[in-house]
Amino acid sequence: IPVEPFDLVIFGGTGDLARRKIFPGLYRRLADGQMPPEARLIGAARSDSDDAEFRALISAALEEFLPAENLRPEIVAQFLEMLSYVKIDALGEGGWPELKGKMREGVVHAFYFSVAPSLFGPIAERLKERGIADGQARIVVEKPFGHDLASAKALNASLAAHFDETQIYRIDHYLGKETVQNLMAVRFGNMLFEPLWNSQYVDHIQITVAETVGVGGRGEYYDRIGAMRDMVQNHLLQLVCLIAMEPPARYDHDAVRDEKLKVIRALDPMEPDDIVRGQYAAGPGGPSYLEDVGDPRSRTESFLAMRLEVSNWRWAGTPFYVRTGKRLKARASEIAIVFKDAPHSIFDVPRGRHSNILSIRLQPNEGMQLGVTIKEPGPGGMRLIDVPLDMTFAEALGDDHDAIPDAYERLIMDVIRGNQTLFMRGDEVEAAWAWTDPVIAGWEARGHIPSPYDQGSSGPDDALMLLHRDGRRWREIR
Ligand code: BG6
Repeated sequence: IPVEPFDLVIFGGTGDLARRKIFPGLYRRLADGQMPPEARLIGAARSDSDDAEFRALISAALEEFLPAENLRPEIVAQFLEMLSYVKIDALGEGGWPELKGKMREGVVHAFYFSVAPSLFGPIAERLKERGIADGQARIVVEKPFGHDLASAKALNASLAAHFDETQIYRIDHYLGKETVQNLMAVRFGNMLFEPLWNSQYVDHIQITVAETVGVGGRGEYYDRIGAMRDMVQNHLLQLVCLIAMEPPARYDHDAVRDEKLKVIRALDPMEPDDIVRGQYAAGPGGPSYLEDVGDPRSRTESFLAMRLEVSNWRWAGTPFYVRTGKRLKARASEIAIVFKDAPHSIFDVPRGRHSNILSIRLQPNEGMQLGVTIKEPGPGGMRLIDVPLDMTFAEALGDDHDAIPDAYERLIMDVIRGNQTLFMRGDEVEAAWAWTDPVIAGWEARGHIPSPYDQGSSGPDDALMLLHRDGRRWREIR
């Protein structure tokens, strides 16, 4: 279904995220018929440039970041026609009147802040004070949303001074991923799972977001952040929320976000014994973390494994094990709900041999598998085997698999539709920082040194111990 016509201004329109994700994603929405041809995309940045140069830059980005078979010359030409450029000084006066002149009456106005967080406040102020953005306009902000609770509060306040919360779209691109949304559909669209979705039937939950890339070119930036701020405070906690939350009364922005907020607030404070931090050593993939960031004494983590407890009636006693890291053995992200054993086995098999596992795979090969125990077919007597009920989307969708929108495409279309359900609310972001801040402060106070791990491994050995000591095992990263 096409969205309404809109004017979308992208601050940082020549930057990496814009070239890599935003414009290629918008192109795909146009090619798919979801973005109306009357939409206008305005790149705003500091550099001297003009419409023709900007179109050439974005045309090159489409070629670089989209498969050649996706590029249909007539659609590319139509897309480039929608683009224009304005040179703008975010902290000064230049460019704002030109921008105002470009905004059309009677269409949705959205402003994407793909810039450093220090510019959020100044841009918001200029948009509002110069009458470029009205009470209906939407602003989209990228992570990192702050560095800690205090800075997140300051950012929220600087946006709130000019825009209402209903106009602010804080992106966490994990919420735009196909399977992440499917998690809600599976939980709340079926009778089958929800009755079992609690500590009485679920033994534990594992969330893995493993990457093969290192910190490479963004070493200097990453070293100030680390895995906790880069991945856990936002993406992984959001996944925990979607798994742990109570059913909202409606699939609507505040109902869903109220429930997620309750989960973050129910997280127990972390104990040092429940956390493993790591840094990758030099290996076949490239230099060590310390070399990548150019600081042999860095104590920032590129890997984190944690045992979380959501202390409420539904989850007390069911641990959530989460881990994420760079330069691991595979790019593989998965949520696994590991159910308890049947209370009694009539088949004389050892306990723990057959447990049902619902595995939700975020990437690659998005899909779900439910491990079910059945009788091995044939004459061999009552021998039990585990087989997966497989719901791999690529198979279900066949050739249409490419039509699954990327997270950014979907989220930008939601901005135009005015649907905030998959965006983080200010209080959610603050609650997440309130939980991570003391953990990070603890590491700093103790001068904690992350353990080295081999590239291509599953992380430091201590991470294995985190589950072994509870009599459990991590699932294979693959
Ligand atoms: C980003 C992090 O938010 O997410 C990166 O800053 C990380 O460090 C990326 O690589 C992972 O996203 P995806 O969609 O590739 O899993």
